[in-house]
Amino acid sequence: MSVFKDYVDQVQGWLVDVKDYLAEQRISNEGLQSQLDEIERSLQADYKQKEEILALQDKVKQVQADLRGEVEGQEARQQSVPAGQHTLPPLPYPYNALEPYISEEIMRLHHDKHHQAYVDGLNKAEKMMKQARESGDFSLIKHWQNEAAFNGSGHYLHTIFWENMNPNGGGEPHGQLLKQIVKDFGSYAAFKKEFSEVAKQVPGVGWAILVWSPRARRLEILMSQLHMILTQWDTIPLLVLDVWEHAYYLQYKNKRADYVDQFWNVVYWPNVANRYEKAHKLQWTPF
Ligand SMILES: [Fe+2]
Repeated sequence: MSVFKDYVDQVQGWLVDVKDYLAEQRISNEGLQSQLDEIERSLQADYKQKEEILALQDKVKQVQADLRGEVEGQEARQQSVPAGQHTLPPLPYPYNALEPYISEEIMRLHHDKHHQAYVDGLNKAEKMMKQARESGDFSLIKHWQNEAAFNGSGHYLHTIFWENMNPNGGGEPHGQLLKQIVKDFGSYAAFKKEFSEVAKQVPGVGWAILVWSPRARRLEILMSQLHMILTQWDTIPLLVLDVWEHAYYLQYKNKRADYVDQFWNVVYWPNVANRYEKAHKLQWTPF
């Protein structure tokens, strides 16, 4: 029996843990895999020399270093979206789930075509801005900034919009969010009237947006022309209503007001409350 048996047993146990971890995390790295296979094969040997054990230790250390790099890379990918790599979020319910208030035809077109176009436009703008950053040539930066603002706001607002609605929506908000609405607007009815009026009166196309202002420490309703004109930065959107024609025209034609009135049947207040609770924790010095 090898005098180094304890260490070899430890490596054996560690090897099983690492393989399990790679499978769980769905990490497929060929280099790492072949190093592990090599260690597994070498564990069959009968270790007698100190040099043999030191060589094994080196292999283990190398795998640990490579594994650390792989895990850090994986975490970085999970924590942020690299420039130019935004993706279309899946609709959180079936396309026909908001019928009869918003038709399946609209949802398919709106999500698959229009939202996808904003994702593509944002990715393109980000890649071009990255290129400018690398080359130092900023001659077209105004154009790409404009594209990034338009498509970026389009992407982020639609991402919130899909989750702001739900087939189990309608009704009224509860709890802390309701208390804040009453505090800032007088009543839920008063809030609903003002939000609807803002949506109906957006000049041309745009959005109505309920925001929490971390600085003023209150809710506010904003009217956004296009996706980004007249918006107020430094605020967090909680409830958004898309009043671009692509959001309602197939079904409601020019009757935007009817669409706005029907929207309330699918507003998913638990989602808005969740956004509010998270946003509410942000605090900056008031000015
Ligand atoms: Fe839209």
